[in-house]
Amino acid sequence: MESLNDTSSRQVEICPSILPANFSRLGDDLKMLEDAGADRIHWDVMDGNFVPNLTIGPDIVSSCRESVEIPFEAHLMVEDPDLLAPLYIEAGCELIILHVESTKHLDRSLNRILEVGAKAGVTLNPATPVENVEHVLHLVDQVLIMSVNPGFGGQKYLSSQEQKIKKVKSWILEQGFDIDIEVDGGISSSTIAQATGAGANVFVAGSAVFSHPEGPKSAIAELRETAASAK
Ligand code: DX5
Ligand code: ZN
Repeated sequence: MESLNDTSSRQVEICPSILPANFSRLGDDLKMLEDAGADRIHWDVMDGNFVPNLTIGPDIVSSCRESVEIPFEAHLMVEDPDLLAPLYIEAGCELIILHVESTKHLDRSLNRILEVGAKAGVTLNPATPVENVEHVLHLVDQVLIMSVNPGFGGQKYLSSQEQKIKKVKSWILEQGFDIDIEVDGGISSSTIAQATGAGANVFVAGSAVFSHPEGPKSAIAELRETAASAK
């Protein structure tokens, strides 16, 4: 019988990152991803401080909200998430993912997101111990394990982070939480199986989707099949 907290029964979701998209026709690219079978859109928000890169303001997100039906999630790689999170919720993101390293009061910051009716996720850099999220699992809908150091697409997958996936999964099973485990960074058809085996069910993919020789539809189908057969 399927149980709520058993991540191996949780649906596999493929969430393309918009970083490699053609920003001169972002709405069209989102539609292309939706038609290609994407389950969500992963907005990588970088402020040039928390990470050495600068990407997308909330106005760009809201200008694209009407171009697709699928949900938006915002991965906030910013120094001041309390200031910016409400703007991305207003722009149409239903899930806001905060870095534990970006706020002094993680519990309060997550509650602020929940109070306005959005879903909350928490993430951590590769060097940050996974125990830093243990005490907010009762608040979040998702834990995102970074499998690269945040700031850029196209980096190599860090299999060292699979220990964290396994640890979070064990906490979820022990305590019966209804939480997705997402992995972000270097996900491709050659790394998604091991991330799935460790316990993840949601996968961000940027370069693997946009640079696939047969296009995004084949890329997403291949990722989904590979993950499903690794469960
Ligand atoms: C990196 C971002 C990732 C990145 C993924 O800081 O958070 O979402 O865009 O891109 P790939 O799949 O190319 O590693
Ligand atoms: Zn990301």
